[in-house]
Amino acid sequence: MHYGGDYNPEQWPEEVWPEDIARMQEAGVTMVSLGIFSWARIQPSEHEFDFDWLDRIIGLLHDGGIAVDLATATASPPPWATVAYPEMLAADENGTPYWHGSRQHYAPSSPAYRRIATELVTRIAGRYADHPAVVLWHVNNEYGCHLNVDYSDAARDAFRGWLEKRYGSVDALNEAWGTMFWSQRYGSFAEVFPPRRAPYSHNPGQLLDYRRFTSDMLLECYRMERDIIRAAGATQPVTTNFMGAFKSVNYAEWAPELDVISDDLYPDPNDPEGFREGAFHGDLMRSLKPGTPWLLMEQASNAVNWRPSNAPKAPGQLAAQSMQAVARGADGVLFFQWRQSRAGAEKFHSGMLPHAGTQTRTWREVVALGEELGRLPDLPADDGSARVALLLDWENWWAIENPDHPTSLDYLSLVRGWYDAAHRLHVQVDILPPTAELTQYDVVLAPHLYLLTGEAAGNLTAFVEQGGHLLVTAFSDVVDGNDRFRSGGFGTQVRDLLGIVVEDFGALVAPGSAGPGQQHARVTGDGFGFAGSFLAEEAHAVDAAVLATFDGGRQHGRPALTSRRHGAGTAYYLATVPDDDGARQVLEHLFAAAEVPPVLAGLPPMVEAVRRGPLLTVINHGAEPVRVDVQGRDVLADAVVRDVTLEPFGYALILPDR
Ligand code: GAL
Repeated sequence: MHYGGDYNPEQWPEEVWPEDIARMQEAGVTMVSLGIFSWARIQPSEHEFDFDWLDRIIGLLHDGGIAVDLATATASPPPWATVAYPEMLAADENGTPYWHGSRQHYAPSSPAYRRIATELVTRIAGRYADHPAVVLWHVNNEYGCHLNVDYSDAARDAFRGWLEKRYGSVDALNEAWGTMFWSQRYGSFAEVFPPRRAPYSHNPGQLLDYRRFTSDMLLECYRMERDIIRAAGATQPVTTNFMGAFKSVNYAEWAPELDVISDDLYPDPNDPEGFREGAFHGDLMRSLKPGTPWLLMEQASNAVNWRPSNAPKAPGQLAAQSMQAVARGADGVLFFQWRQSRAGAEKFHSGMLPHAGTQTRTWREVVALGEELGRLPDLPADDGSARVALLLDWENWWAIENPDHPTSLDYLSLVRGWYDAAHRLHVQVDILPPTAELTQYDVVLAPHLYLLTGEAAGNLTAFVEQGGHLLVTAFSDVVDGNDRFRSGGFGTQVRDLLGIVVEDFGALVAPGSAGPGQQHARVTGDGFGFAGSFLAEEAHAVDAAVLATFDGGRQHGRPALTSRRHGAGTAYYLATVPDDDGARQVLEHLFAAAEVPPVLAGLPPMVEAVRRGPLLTVINHGAEPVRVDVQGRDVLADAVVRDVTLEPFGYALILPDR
C-alpha cells in the first residue's frame, strides 16, 4: 500500500529536506511524486540542465526508505520556453493566447512544445531509468486540466492533418459533416479551422471531431513521453493522473496505454453526498483496468484553495474517504501535497504537513492514516464483484452535449444520477464503455446513448440475447458516429430489441427555469409513481409490455417504461429522466428481476458497503452511529467479529466467514 504525496522540494531551501524525510518517516510515507512542476528548476534556460539537486533529493529519499514516483515535469513550461517559442502557447476560442505566469499553458499539438518536452524527458529518463528509488513514472500532470480545448494555430495545423488521416479526402469530410448545410462545403483541408468563435452554431460534426482530436493530441503527448521512458530502458510502470470522469480526455481509450491507473479526487467536504463522488471515481478507475489495482494519486488532507469557499474536512472524513478508495481497488493513497506551500497560488491548499506544523489535527490524522494503511495485509485485486455495469461513453458525452438539441442535457450528471441510485441501494457497479465485454453482468444500465454505433448496439443486443437485463433511457440511438441521423427515423439500431418506436422527444421545460410549459411529467404504473424531467418522449410500444405510462400532460397515457423479452433476457426502455426516487424504483424493479442482491442488505443510505474480492468494507458517511451485522475477521482490529458499530466516518474492513 503506497502512502505519500506530491513533493515539491524545489520550493524549499535544502536545509528543510532532511526534516521532510524525517517527518515522512514519522507519517509512514512510502512514496512521493517528485518533479511534477520542476521544469524551470531542472532546465533554467534552454541549453542548461541542473540535475544535481534532483540527484541529491532522490538520494536522500532513497536513503530514507522512501520510493519515488518520478514526474517528467512537462506540465508547466518555464517562461524562457514560451518567450523563445510563443507559438507553443495554447489559445482560447477567440485565438487569444494563454500567457505564462500560471501553469499548463502549452498547446499539446505544438511541434515546439513537443520538441523541448522530448529533450527534457529524454534527459530525465536517461538519468534515472535505473535508479533504485524510482518505482513509478508520472507522465505530465492531469492532461487537459484548465485548458480543456485548445484553439491555437498549432492546433489548427494539427487538426487539418488529423482530419486528412481520418477522412482521406475532403469529399469524405464534407459528407461526414454534412457541409451542404449553410454553405459550409470545404474545397481543401487547408480551409478547415478549429471551431473558433463564430456568429452562431458550429457544425456538430466538426465539434465532435474537435473533441476527438483534442483527446488524441493529449494522448500523442502521453505516448511520446511514455515511449521515451521505455526507450531509455526504464522498466518501472508508467502512469498519468486522471480526474474521475473528465470530459476532454477519453479515459476508456487511454487506459490500455497506462500500466497503472491513477486518479485525483477532491469532493467538497461540505457536501454530505460528496462521498458518492469518491465511490464513482473509484469504481471508474477500477473498471478502466480490471484486475489491476489503481492509485489515489491526489486528494487533500484538509481544505483546498480553489472553491469560492473552502471548507475543512470534518474530523475522520479524511480516513473514511481514503478507505473508500482502498475498498474500491486502490493500492495507494497519496495527496496533493506533502508540505503546504509558503508562496504561490496554492499556499492556502492543505498539505500532509500543514503550514501550522505538527501540533495540528491534520498532521495527527495524516500520521494515524499512514499507520493504519501500513498495517493492512496485501489486498487482493477485485475479481469481478459487480453484477451490474453502468455505461459511460466519451464520444456520446461529446455529441449529446452539442448545442441545438431538443433540450440541454448534462450527460455526466445523468450518468451520476443512475450511479448514485445504485449506490444508495448498495449495489456495486462497474463503469464501462458500451463496446466492453458485458457477458459477465446481470444488469446493464445504458443511460442516454444518443450516439450509438452499430458495434455498441450489437453488443447490447447480444447481452440481452444471452440473458441480460438492459435498461435504455430517453434520447438514445438518435445519431451515428458522425452525429448525423440515420435514415429510417430514430432508434434504428435497438428499435427491434426494445420493441418501441420513438416518434418525438417531447422536451419539457428545463427544471427550475421560469416560464410557461410543463416542467415535470408524472409517471405511474403498478409499483411505479415518480416524476420525469427534461424529456417525456412520444413513444409507441410496438412489441413491448408497458410497465408505466405518463400521467397527465401532452403524453398522457403513452408508455413511459416498457420491457421486452428478447432471447434469454429483457430489454427495458424509460422514455424520460426520472427523479431520484424514480431511478430507485426502476432499479429496484430491474435488480429484483435479475436477482441482483445488495452487497449487504438493510444498510442505511449513508453507509456504503463494497467488495474487493473477498474483502468487505463498510463505511459510515452519515452523522449517526450505525451497527452493521457482519461476521468475519476485522482486519484492522485483528479480531473476529459478529457485528461492528461504526461511528460517523467509522469504517471496518472485514474478511467475512465463508
Ligand atoms: C490538482 C493538481 C495539483 C494541485 C491540486 C490542488 O488539479 O494536479 O497540482 O494543483 O489540484 O487541489
